[in-house]
Amino acid sequence: MSKIIILPGIVDAHVHLRDPGQTYKEDFFTGTSAALAGGITSVFDMPNNLVPILDIDKLNEKVKIAEKKAVCDWGLYFGTDGNNTDEFPLVYKYVIGLKLYLSDTTGGLIISDKDIVEKIFQSWPKNKVIVIHAEEEKIDLVIKCAQKYGNKIHITHVNTKEMLKKIILAKNLKIKITCDTTPHYLFLTVHHLEKLQGFSQVKPPLAQKSDQKYLWDNISHIDCIVTDHAPHTKEEKALKETPYGLPGLETMVPLLLTAVKENKLTVPEVIRLTCTGPQKIFGIKATEGTYTEVDIDEKFRIDGAGLRTKCKWSPFNGWNVYGKVKNVFIRSEKVFDGRNILVNPGSGKNVMMLE
Ligand code: DOR
Ligand code: ZN
Repeated sequence: MSKIIILPGIVDAHVHLRDPGQTYKEDFFTGTSAALAGGITSVFDMPNNLVPILDIDKLNEKVKIAEKKAVCDWGLYFGTDGNNTDEFPLVYKYVIGLKLYLSDTTGGLIISDKDIVEKIFQSWPKNKVIVIHAEEEKIDLVIKCAQKYGNKIHITHVNTKEMLKKIILAKNLKIKITCDTTPHYLFLTVHHLEKLQGFSQVKPPLAQKSDQKYLWDNISHIDCIVTDHAPHTKEEKALKETPYGLPGLETMVPLLLTAVKENKLTVPEVIRLTCTGPQKIFGIKATEGTYTEVDIDEKFRIDGAGLRTKCKWSPFNGWNVYGKVKNVFIRSEKVFDGRNILVNPGSGKNVMMLE
């Protein structure tokens, strides 16, 4: 059996391609190749590189790397440590948004001072999104700041019932707030920790079954799904003190289409969560001739070692899923045929530069 469905340009609004600085984990070519193999046509890359993206020079350096290596479309986030607000007017037009870390994770960009958070909210343009990693009570502060200063905020990788409940309440108060979750919170829970060990360690952490159920029951309040593709080597993930993060670019679309098969989602919902949702949040237009053909009836087993991501592992290794990516087109050019990347490094475009 075979049933080809067409998904319009899938956007992954949260990835860590590690380039520059940690290209032994991933780079713009391998990361964007993994995106195409996963049916994704644009990726938005986070600023927590080894040397974080905190000024216009670092941003320009990363733009040049992406221009040279990317095979799908891309956008970049700017980072902040609270001391670089003077750079904001210089960079905001060229980035997807600002990333603000209020909770502990890979990269050490965490901000804990409330006054600094307020200064950041005052300094960042109101028409550009601030994407926020805020766990537990940290979310209260950013909701208050968004209400006080009128910024657009997007809470990324929501993992618990408590977080999503607070976001729904804020939405009801007409605060400019949106949110996403990831496939790992929708398909994995604390019950996977024992089997996966370091290969399940991620920030925010995997949560309870009751949290996962709340995410599924309230999927209509979730504005998009992102992978938070955060590759670390197998050797690093086998360490006792493992770095946080899971790869996800090549498993998101099949996992979501498997959920469609199980009647947990519909295809229009998948399109809202992976395409029109992120376009709306970040003000990005659809690109003509950009789409993915997937065989929703084709079943296959996820094989971590066979993935294109440099890290060559997946927390979903061995899972049987539906939805094989057959062909990917960008601006009417076939860029992936189900086996091979058909375009040269550098063919991907900066979404901020498309009119
Ligand atoms: O688990 C994570 N890993 N969470 C993050 O927020 C960052 C990411 C990374 O950069 O590895
Ligand atoms: Zn992340």
